[in-house]
Amino acid sequence: MLLGRRGLPGQPLQRWWTCGKLHSLTRKLYAGRMACSAPAVQVVSAGLQDKDVVNGGMDVYAISDLHTDHEENLAWVKRLPRGRHGNDVLIVAGDVSDDMRIFRETMAELVDRFGHVAFVPGNHELWVRGIDGDYEQRNEGARDSLEKLHRVLNICTEMGVSVKPCKVGNFWLVPILSWHHRSFDTEPDIPGIPPASPMTISDYRHCKWSLCSHENGSEAIAEYIDALNDGSWVESVDSSSNDVISFSHFLPHIELLPEKRFLYYPNIAKVVGSDPLKRRIQKLRPHLHIFGHTHFGWDAVVDGVRYVQCALGYPKERQKRYPSMLLSQNPRELMETPPESSRVKNPTFLPALVYTSTSCQQAETPPLPTSESGDAGDGSPQAKASEGTVPNGFGREDESRDGAVSVYPAAKGRMQPLHSKWSDYYQSNPRTPENLTLAPWAASRYQQSKRKA
Ligand SMILES: [Fe+2]
Ligand SMILES: [Fe+2]
Repeated sequence: MLLGRRGLPGQPLQRWWTCGKLHSLTRKLYAGRMACSAPAVQVVSAGLQDKDVVNGGMDVYAISDLHTDHEENLAWVKRLPRGRHGNDVLIVAGDVSDDMRIFRETMAELVDRFGHVAFVPGNHELWVRGIDGDYEQRNEGARDSLEKLHRVLNICTEMGVSVKPCKVGNFWLVPILSWHHRSFDTEPDIPGIPPASPMTISDYRHCKWSLCSHENGSEAIAEYIDALNDGSWVESVDSSSNDVISFSHFLPHIELLPEKRFLYYPNIAKVVGSDPLKRRIQKLRPHLHIFGHTHFGWDAVVDGVRYVQCALGYPKERQKRYPSMLLSQNPRELMETPPESSRVKNPTFLPALVYTSTSCQQAETPPLPTSESGDAGDGSPQAKASEGTVPNGFGREDESRDGAVSVYPAAKGRMQPLHSKWSDYYQSNPRTPENLTLAPWAASRYQQSKRKA
């Protein structure tokens, strides 16, 4: 089912978006749900697969970092099933493409497949660059990253993609604009690693902030972008009586990134997160927050909020470090690397199902999985998940509500934790950023790049 798209082209920043489409959908869904005719939810997967599709309810899927300027990624988007998710919501947490031609093409494909697509821009959307003289078309005339941000949000509005907070039935969808700043990283640096600079960080080369006169990496630019949320901020969001799903491209907590000694480029920690974003989330208290940017699969509770990342990432990353990108309900899957052709061209774990309506039936709860310890051999730690150490849902206890949308992978009795290499690792290993010895895989990569230089 495709709903009518109501675009608001040319409207100013504070009026990008309307909730009308979602309210209309909600009415239809709730009318259908009253009849209680939805089939039982039998199988649930971390990924969107034909056999696991739940018909007759409203499900929320999430993905980030589509990077569809890579042919394989755009082809993957085009292979997502049509006609099966007309009632469902897809959250896209940034980094589709800096090329507005590809951005439009990608979002059109998604809008054709999902009842609702909600989007928050990533860093790539805000790049202003040209390749082979295509500056005008690539940026649709934008000369500054702020101008590009407004362009991207207006394109979304024209296409019927949500970019502002909105209530859907019993839950809120809240996109949060954010930008990274160097001081977000408070952990010790690894000696000898090149600093974050235009030489090492693409954002510092491709983002220009002349319209607001702030510098890349400064706290001022992070604060400025955060303040743009104020125009649409919903003070009335009440997370005690409504479920709240928020999403951003960047990280609100350094704990959502592996420690520097594990990273191929340790100083990436300086360009991943935002303190103003953290404060905004602390105020909002969402039940679930989706993020992106680092391309690591993640599902963990920090400061009482459940954080999930499910990134498609680059084809090369899926080739080389697929297990660290994977989200799965079964930690054993984290140790099984599928054939290269499948992981590069058709990863099946995405988009991740993060929330579902279960007003008529409860989802069945498979037993909590366990795994053995050891080295995964791919440059990331092996999961050491065991009962009692898996992420604990949305940071809440049982949250069933009469006849309403229920949190799916949460709450005792129907909780479905998703596993990933790194968030499982931190379930059973303390963070020790004072250890500055590079992990073997990071050390060998660093030596290689030193030799090349
Ligand atoms: Fe990305
Ligand atoms: Fe990013």
